[in-house]
Amino acid sequence: MKITKICCIGAGYVGGPTMAVIAKKNPNIKVTIVDINEARIAAWNDEDVSNLPIYEPGLAEIVKETRGKNLFFTTAIDEAIKESEMIFISVNTPTKTYGKGKGMAADLKYVELCARNIAEVATTDKIVVEKSTLPVRTAQAIKSILHNTGSDVNFSILSNPEFLAEGTAIEDLLNPDRVLIGGESEDAIESLANVYGSWVPQERILRTNVWSSELSKLTANAFLAQRISSINAISELCEHTEANVNEVAKAIGMDSRIGSKFLNASIGFGGSCFQKDILNLVYIARSYGLTEVADYWEQVIILNDHQKRRFSDNLISTLYNTVSGKKIAMLGWAFKKDTNDTRESAAIYVADHLLNEQANIAVYDPKVNEQKVLNDLNYLNTRSEDENKDLVTSFNDPYETTKDAHAVAIMTEWDEFKTYDWQKVYDQMKKPAFIFDGRNILDKSEMEAIGFEYSSIGK
Ligand code: UDX
Ligand code: ADP
Repeated sequence: MKITKICCIGAGYVGGPTMAVIAKKNPNIKVTIVDINEARIAAWNDEDVSNLPIYEPGLAEIVKETRGKNLFFTTAIDEAIKESEMIFISVNTPTKTYGKGKGMAADLKYVELCARNIAEVATTDKIVVEKSTLPVRTAQAIKSILHNTGSDVNFSILSNPEFLAEGTAIEDLLNPDRVLIGGESEDAIESLANVYGSWVPQERILRTNVWSSELSKLTANAFLAQRISSINAISELCEHTEANVNEVAKAIGMDSRIGSKFLNASIGFGGSCFQKDILNLVYIARSYGLTEVADYWEQVIILNDHQKRRFSDNLISTLYNTVSGKKIAMLGWAFKKDTNDTRESAAIYVADHLLNEQANIAVYDPKVNEQKVLNDLNYLNTRSEDENKDLVTSFNDPYETTKDAHAVAIMTEWDEFKTYDWQKVYDQMKKPAFIFDGRNILDKSEMEAIGFEYSSIGK
């Protein structure tokens, strides 16, 4: 099928950047991104592209170039579905917070609603592409909903998992290691391969069956997360010995069989994918009775939780076993640099733990505002919204944030943190002044020369 119009349901971190790049590289295809969230669509349509709902280096420029030409943002979902030959489902699939599979399985209600919406309004044949991270065999569910609508519209289902990482989304989309398309219908697969083919070399476009494609996404994320948990496990051992985790990571990373990427010891991985996808993998394995397989992958998550807890425990015990009434400055709230996404960010859990000990938390993140910080904490439901509001303040300036603080905790590896006037920070802090560098981005000897009590991960 020749594709002239594409619709993407879900204007989020995946849908937004992916469609922007597809539109840029396919000027003859009309790309419409729809969402039920009116405020989000309004922000995507904001005259001033610095107000886009998602921060991603390079994204604003592409939106500016294509918006109103062949890239459109709207809440008119039905119209966009009707006119398009290809529909991407790019809605959120959070971990279930209720019922069977609570805390493990992916909640597919948004995906199901989309499938029903498509089934209801489609009057011509459609290729439906699942873009959200979905548990294996979701395509089957989508297919069954679409095919049981009674109309004679023909639907082909494809799985096209996203491998972009936030913070480098545009770069990852422009130069992907590979694009994966899983499906039954060769014609549908080739239609999508042609869309990517306008900028991705054909040999990088892999075609598989739907189930392999779905499982590859979970597997890729599980392998990446496993590396982080592995190096984080070693970081704890380093702290008990004279070893330095950076040196260990460098030494093993130079083994070409291992490779150097994803070996940065940290406060623990966050983001919308790793935890969710591994829990999903564990859930699927358990549902097939594969206990050892499930336990094996679950340990990656257990270690990650341990790493976050260890960081806050260490902070508390270093501050003489009490942080009650003390100001703790947290630099960074996003789950990694160059994004305003905070989903599953380690900062949330570390803050929550410190708040249980009645600390006062001051937050500074270049791209995250106070309301988002409070929403993240309120979502955990550990204490009342009023209490969170009393105990947590966010600032627009790092020096305000750290003024009179007992300790600074570095939660995100934002580049700007490295260039601060740390002498000034030190002068304004309570003494002794502590730094807990959760990302190993500052120089230990430099910090100690200023007078800081410095500790980092695995050193
Ligand atoms: C990830 C996958 O990389 C991507 O392919 C998939 O499509 C979605 O999930 P993302 O969550 O955006 O992408 O970010 P990623 O760069 O993978 O980082 C995930 C977390 O791991 C972050 O919290 C990051 O800070 C942490 N991390 C990463 C480490 O702690 N150490 C590392 O060495 C690398
Ligand atoms: P991701 O990181 O997977 O892109 P986001 O949460 O950033 O996730 O984006 C998902 C988007 O999907 C949200 O903006 C949400 O409003 C939208 N969405 C969810 N369900 C529907 C639906 N049935 N129809 C249209 N949009 C939806």
